[in-house]
Amino acid sequence: MSYFPTTRLRRLRVTETVRRMARETALAIADFVYPLFVVEGRDIRQPIGPMPGCYQLSLDRLCPEVDEVAELGIPAVLLFGIPSAKDAVGSEAYAERGIVQEAVRAIKKAAPQIVVVTDVCLCEYTDHGHCGVVVGERVDNDRTLELLAKTAVSQADAGADVVAPSAMMDGQVRAIRQALDGSGHQETLLMAYAAKYASAFFGPFRVAAESAPQFGDRRAYQMDPANVREAMREIELDVQEGADIIMVKPALAYLDVIARARQQFNLPLAAYNVSGEYSMVKAASQLGWVDGNRAMMEVLTAIKRAGAEIIISYHAKEAARLLRGER
Ligand code: PBG
Ligand code: ZN
Repeated sequence: MSYFPTTRLRRLRVTETVRRMARETALAIADFVYPLFVVEGRDIRQPIGPMPGCYQLSLDRLCPEVDEVAELGIPAVLLFGIPSAKDAVGSEAYAERGIVQEAVRAIKKAAPQIVVVTDVCLCEYTDHGHCGVVVGERVDNDRTLELLAKTAVSQADAGADVVAPSAMMDGQVRAIRQALDGSGHQETLLMAYAAKYASAFFGPFRVAAESAPQFGDRRAYQMDPANVREAMREIELDVQEGADIIMVKPALAYLDVIARARQQFNLPLAAYNVSGEYSMVKAASQLGWVDGNRAMMEVLTAIKRAGAEIIISYHAKEAARLLRGER
């Protein structure tokens, strides 16, 4: 082992070319999944206040957006639906002509090569805003499973390539895998929001998806931010139940969870760089307090360095442009 002055680590940082040679982590456009919010109606491209650059899109405005994503080389989109009518059991989540189902059909027709991922949850579709069926003040786990399974099957029927359950109900991966297999969808992938925390960083999403709970919060089903061993149990169960891809969400406050998951499991690992993480970078950048592009690339690189090979991010289009050397 040799020390200073023989060893000088600054030699590895001397020019950009040398730094490039020594670099351990490189983002690729193929790493990204771009989330989209679909609304009913026509000719709607409604900016989402706390998420500058993101929009609620009606079906007719969705395809041009997806074309842009595809042209940038981003392999996948993740769809969230905002129905015009909500009820206690989230009927529009599993309606054959529901907003997400129609969006999947439209995208599969216009850009068949793009991977379409659908969020499987009820909170955008229930009038109380919870992720499942409410009995009294509680979300009933086992009754919710059936509806999540119906939702996933209807999305697969519409042509979704990947279904991504995010409700944090016990047994949801098993229920959905069984229902998919039982309806001829053996080929449909399942990306499990395996370790999803009860996070303040979902705030802007709930504005975008109009899905804030009308009473209480999600702490009785989403994870306690203090726990990492429990996250490994959550992931392990989802692997046993048949997940193809596992996910940690949010990403930035949970890089240790990502790193542990990468060490402990051999499945492809996704991380969700959630709405609040995006909003913070945008807000500070608008105020001139950070360099937005640099902060964005630093954050995304950190998520990859921690061990995620799939990065779900509202920054995906901007990051892809930078990676292509545009702008
Ligand atoms: C639905 C869902 C949420 C997010 C993804 N799927 C919100 C929530 O659980 O409240 C959050 C995504 C984001 O903040 O970007 N269950
Ligand atoms: Zn939900």
